[in-house]
Amino acid sequence: MRIRIRQIAFLALLVVLLYFYLPLSPAIPTQPYDGYKGRHGGGMYQLAQFMNDPSKVPKIVAKNSSFDWSSVEFTYPPELTPKLPAPPPKRPQIQWHFKPESPRGKVQEQRRLAVKKVFEKSWESYKKHAWMKDALKPLSAGYVDQFSGWAATLVDSLDTLWMMGMRDEFYEAVAAVAEIDFGKSTSGRVNTFETCIRYLGGLISAYDLSGHEALRVKAVEVGDLLYAGFNTENRMPVDFIEFEEAKKGGGLYVEETVVSASPGTITLEFARLSQITGDSKYYAAVSHVMDTFYEHQNETKLPGMWPMYVSMRRKDVVSGYQFTIAGNADSLYEYLPKAHALLGSADPSSAKYETMSRTFMDTAISHLFFRPMIPGNDDILISGNCDVLDEGPHLDPESEHLSCFIGGLFALGGKLFDNETYVQTGDKLARGCAWAYKAMPTGIMPERYNTVICPDQHDCKWDKQVWADEKQKRAEYKPHLPLGFTTAKDPRYILRPEAIESIFILWRITGNTWYRDTAWDMFLAVSNATDTEFANAAIKDVTVEDGGGKEDYMESFWMAETLKYFYLCFVDSDVVSLDEFVLNTEAHAFRLS
Ligand SMILES: *[C@@H]1O[C@H](CO)[C@@H](O)[C@H](O)[C@H]1NC(C)=O
Ligand SMILES: *[C@@H]1O[C@H](CO)[C@@H](O)[C@H](O)[C@H]1NC(C)=O
Ligand SMILES: *[C@@H]1O[C@H](CO)[C@@H](O)[C@H](O)[C@H]1NC(C)=O
Ligand SMILES: *[C@@H]1O[C@H](CO)[C@@H](O)[C@H](O)[C@H]1NC(C)=O
Repeated sequence: MRIRIRQIAFLALLVVLLYFYLPLSPAIPTQPYDGYKGRHGGGMYQLAQFMNDPSKVPKIVAKNSSFDWSSVEFTYPPELTPKLPAPPPKRPQIQWHFKPESPRGKVQEQRRLAVKKVFEKSWESYKKHAWMKDALKPLSAGYVDQFSGWAATLVDSLDTLWMMGMRDEFYEAVAAVAEIDFGKSTSGRVNTFETCIRYLGGLISAYDLSGHEALRVKAVEVGDLLYAGFNTENRMPVDFIEFEEAKKGGGLYVEETVVSASPGTITLEFARLSQITGDSKYYAAVSHVMDTFYEHQNETKLPGMWPMYVSMRRKDVVSGYQFTIAGNADSLYEYLPKAHALLGSADPSSAKYETMSRTFMDTAISHLFFRPMIPGNDDILISGNCDVLDEGPHLDPESEHLSCFIGGLFALGGKLFDNETYVQTGDKLARGCAWAYKAMPTGIMPERYNTVICPDQHDCKWDKQVWADEKQKRAEYKPHLPLGFTTAKDPRYILRPEAIESIFILWRITGNTWYRDTAWDMFLAVSNATDTEFANAAIKDVTVEDGGGKEDYMESFWMAETLKYFYLCFVDSDVVSLDEFVLNTEAHAFRLS
């Protein structure tokens, strides 16, 4: 009886709380997000007044694209169930309990401004030399359209402009977005993955931060374009959308083989699009893709993980033998805990994300992560690659910059699933990447490299002879490499974000100022080595002091991700709090609602 009364009281309380705190479904933000006000009351940046003044928001109406992607008549319409689940009423706290005054201070403010200055230079050059193009070429001040010509850098940078408080530039960019024609493409085949993470992700994030309707309209246009990629016999998405064929609705052919990250990196964007439109169709379509991964997760050659190459045409996600959390597979894994963060586990259709997360994390701990043998014997972890042939799993201690997101992801997963082992593993993985930065003469880690697995994973002692023996076996070894490295197979740094991404997440989760100071060291190294007359450029060789020269190459993730993560390391901890947002694989912030 007492239990009953308690239940009723609890339900009544819940109803009251829901009434006051939850926006009507669909969750459309009514107030622009103003990270600077929060509980610190606006204090140091003096931007709040400008940000919340509605008269400063220009009237911008999105122009319809020349083709209406919502009008395609599907030969193979995807199922419309499962329905989008209600947002979870309660989530575990992710961020450290920061004291209001603790993150403040002059040093951090100077660091914040230094990052912003580098961003402003890149943005100004993009505006001047590559406006509405996909990317600026940072040496020649030329441009390149490699992502269908819809101004990838502009769309990708929108939310960074907002976070940095650059409101004039933000609305200037929104006005340009309102004119983008998603009915025309510079390329006949549209890349599903890149379009999803950069364009759809960028538009959703900018909408979630600013609440500007023009961004929502354009997000729906891109969402419907990508949805047309599900018009296939088995309702699995194509990797590349044949642009003109897709418009006709006759159906598309799913490729024989794709990298697993491609079909695995749609969940966050489609789920959030369903949340902000109130239309479950996007969520339903991608839910079936993830069912395929879920059902076969324990049947692969390395149970708990999926091979790097899969066939969505045959729904074969088990046959391959190469396993990694690095390039080609990375964001398939990244989106599992993050989908749980967005959707919760109360609904049967979303509960699979928690199961898949825990299962893959345990497999990765057992088979992919290793303690390298390095001078100083730091207790760090690096993620390698695992091939499973007849002899069983074989771990190759080869890693790459792309895999550096995994430290942050494990820390996030540890908080989401209340498991300190995952947080500590994430901490060691993030420190592994920080070590690889610091060890190099440029202060930046290479794109791809090898180290030595420590013979004793618990009591690891540097042994020069073991290292000498191991480097003998590597044709790519070069005598100038720092101690501990046996190769720098790809010695470039192409402005990638993954290492600073993990440093940022660990800072916000642990509150350990070592991470902030490390972020600053990394920023100095990166901004110095990549600086050009116009912006920042990829460098050819991080293993030599002068960086080995530059490449005329600056992908949109430089401003969308790398500089954003650096910036977020030095602002107050409630700016883009991990308790309010989940970030997609292009660092776009989706509101948790
Ligand atoms: C865009 O098209 C929709 C119909 O699909 C229409 O309701 C809307 O008014 C159009 N917007 C503009 C700016 O023309
Ligand atoms: C896969 O195995 C894990 C335990 O390792 C289990 O929790 C999970 O439910 C299994 N998945 C499926 C689809 O059976
Ligand atoms: C945390 O995860 C580790 C590794 O999977 C597992 O051994 C341990 O039992 C988990 N702890 C809790 C409290 O769930
Ligand atoms: C960049 O690095 C070079 C070489 O280490 C150094 O001489 C220079 O002072 C650095 N510049 C800045 C702005 O940090």
